[in-house]
Amino acid sequence: MKNADFLTGITTSGTPHLGNFVGAIRPAVKTSKDNNLTSYYFLADFHSLIKCHDPERVKKSTLEIAAAWIALGLDTDNCIFYRQSDIPEIPELTWILTCITPKGLMNRAHAYKANVDENKNTGKKDLDINISMGLFSYPILMAADILMFNAKKVPVGKDQIQHLEMTRDIAAKFNNQYKELFTYPEVVVDETSSVLAGLDGRKMSKSYNNIIPLFDTEKNLRKLIMKIKTNSQEPDEPKDYKTCTLFSIFEAFASKNEIKTMKEKYSQGIAWGTMKQELFEYINETLKESRKIYSQLISSPSDIENILKKGRDKAREYSVPFLSEIRKATGIQSLV
Ligand code: TRP
Repeated sequence: MKNADFLTGITTSGTPHLGNFVGAIRPAVKTSKDNNLTSYYFLADFHSLIKCHDPERVKKSTLEIAAAWIALGLDTDNCIFYRQSDIPEIPELTWILTCITPKGLMNRAHAYKANVDENKNTGKKDLDINISMGLFSYPILMAADILMFNAKKVPVGKDQIQHLEMTRDIAAKFNNQYKELFTYPEVVVDETSSVLAGLDGRKMSKSYNNIIPLFDTEKNLRKLIMKIKTNSQEPDEPKDYKTCTLFSIFEAFASKNEIKTMKEKYSQGIAWGTMKQELFEYINETLKESRKIYSQLISSPSDIENILKKGRDKAREYSVPFLSEIRKATGIQSLV
């Protein structure tokens, strides 16, 4: 097995939403079909334990995210599609990397800092309260995900850029300390659409509770789109598409021409209600077929399990021999 031209993962702690589709699933589906590329795509289930301690939810989310990826067209024969926890080499590499990662580097990680700030703002005396070591060192687990398969390109949302920088720092540490084994991964960020806005205009994220699920019923999809925040402009008043959440979601799905037409409708003062209806129809049409496949998959988890087992075997063709090289470089090896 070859190292990864592309690699990305989705944390399995929630229901797959439009933001996952635009940021990770859609670009992955595209590269998964390219015969000249080796792509690794995975369910980041160990990552889910950082924030989610509800076993049922972790399990359900793993099924849903796998089903979503497959329903939306991931070519699981051509790419390597696996569950992180099926690759025991990843946590082992995580420990090796943990031992060379400066603590100061982790102090600067934004996920950790955001939690410290939250504690500060809510007047907590102990600024580390409710912060686990998993959250603190999460960028190291992510570095192991990436370096385990010597990934060249990692498509992610903007909020993950810092983690890719850290991955390169950690790779350099290892390469200098032990042996040049790791390639430096490059971050791939689609500036226009990789971070989709949610119901309240902030990044669509399960942590903000502002998501639009990918495969909810038609009725619920409509209901949620009607809930998206807009300003209080009247119908016929010309509107600014640049600051509009509805437009930014539309833009992430529509073609260039459709976007152009929509911009014109904004300057002509399209009413918010009409825009919401158009957005709903557009997204519903885009997802209709996949929604059917998705519900079939959800009701046959053993089909998904088989796909993941095949993915695990392909991934381990790379990770098993590579980890033994990495171990050797550190002195962890047989005595004879
Ligand atoms: N942390 C990523 C996110 O929240 C998910 C992820 C885990 C990931 N491991 C990864 C993405 C490795 C890319 C590569 O979006």
